[in-house]
Amino acid sequence: MTDSNATFLGLDLGTSGLRALLVDSQGNPITSAEAHYGSDHPHDGWSEQNPEAWIKACKYVFARLIQTHKTEMSALAGIATAGHMHGATLLDDRGNVLRPCILWNDTRSHEQAAVLDDHPDFREISGNIVFPGFTAPKLAWVKDNEPDIFAKTATVLLPKDYLSFWLTGQLVSDMSDAAGTSWLDLRSRNWSAPLVEQSGMRMDQMPKVLEGTDVVGNLRKVVAKDLGINPNTKVIAGAADNAAAACGIGALSDGQGFVSLGTSGVLLAGQSTCTPLPASAVHTFCHAVPDTWYQMGVILSATNSLNWLATLLRRTPEELSELLPDTLQAPSSAMFTPYLSGERTPHNDSAVRGSFTGLSTSTTPAQMVQAVFEGVAFALRDCQEALRETGTILEEVFAIGGGAQSEYWLRVVATVLDTRLNVPKGQEFGAAMGAARLALCGATGASPHSIMTPPQIDRTIEPDLSLKPAFDAAYANYTSLYPTLKRLSQ
Ligand code: XUL
Repeated sequence: MTDSNATFLGLDLGTSGLRALLVDSQGNPITSAEAHYGSDHPHDGWSEQNPEAWIKACKYVFARLIQTHKTEMSALAGIATAGHMHGATLLDDRGNVLRPCILWNDTRSHEQAAVLDDHPDFREISGNIVFPGFTAPKLAWVKDNEPDIFAKTATVLLPKDYLSFWLTGQLVSDMSDAAGTSWLDLRSRNWSAPLVEQSGMRMDQMPKVLEGTDVVGNLRKVVAKDLGINPNTKVIAGAADNAAAACGIGALSDGQGFVSLGTSGVLLAGQSTCTPLPASAVHTFCHAVPDTWYQMGVILSATNSLNWLATLLRRTPEELSELLPDTLQAPSSAMFTPYLSGERTPHNDSAVRGSFTGLSTSTTPAQMVQAVFEGVAFALRDCQEALRETGTILEEVFAIGGGAQSEYWLRVVATVLDTRLNVPKGQEFGAAMGAARLALCGATGASPHSIMTPPQIDRTIEPDLSLKPAFDAAYANYTSLYPTLKRLSQ
């Protein structure tokens, strides 16, 4: 029986910050706290974070939550982590971090990725292209370029799993995150010895792999004391950020999905069977709930494109969004391709770079913002087409992520995808909510399908049928740009 006063915490280790969400025994939000950190980009295409920043952020959010909700935090029964995927956190045999974590949007290992991807086992067993952002090629890069560090590597942890390690002392991962390493057998939900060995690694360097609702262990006493919480609090394995967001929005099965306008952009569909199609550059991963999977198209720069433009124009992303009118406009001649860090779906091209075309002396900042919104929506349409190739069609999806706060952007995406977008009611439905739900299920034994239900719909954004032909024509122009951009990047 669950104690009705028990509370559960979801920790979402995002690319720009850590979000902690506290929920009650029914999974309803109580409060949240956030701490921010940056990424380092020492070279073009590189993206790193120091795991120390994650721990500092973790200590900060716990202190904040205890300050504002002491009673509820003293009833904490479970914690689960979610986080950005594919990162390589390398530990020595004493658990010390050997180098900054190489992140999901780091493309330095494109040559190593191509070599691994050429080996047919990788696509066949892992169900996915070996993208440069995935973990296995990162380790191959470290082996080639930092042999001393490679030689000292005792364990490779995904970013959110480093938080669990710090909390519990246990070296574990969960299926949904492990599936993004290129080392997991997607169908049997276990590490694949051939894939691990073909990338120059050993099985003993892999953490134990659990389902997202499995218990990792109790808190380390010293950490419980430091954070000021009960040492009997259970830590649950949790999930990759996209799988966690799917748990938060109730997308576990066929026909359920979301479009996320976060740092990266994602169009995700839940799946009750495992049907990968790597050739389409769609990602097929294990879900955080046993016996489920999900497919998604991923673009590398969604709100990241708006943030980039905001920095250039010396305004905030919110100020830029406000430049746009209330009603949807047909695309102007200005066009943007969001390949600032290369692209995953559908191109698997880490070298290609973004572009603005169709600019004139009368192009306004507002038109450039409009072009960024449209370019991201066209890239998501590419993901939709790739998902369609695998037989996955979504009639309607939830819209989540920071960019979903722009009504204009949502209208563009709904029209370009010709898909109804449901905007969830309330604030809490993202990866932190999914992690909190996994914590609740893991700590109490509650059935995931009864807890991970869709939120109430606040409103539905319908495609604008009168402007659809104009957006279709602009999408055709958008797709015609890629071959030229590819050639320019070679
Ligand atoms: C998914 C991916 C990103 C990151 C960051 O494959 O790389 O969505 O998880 O959010």
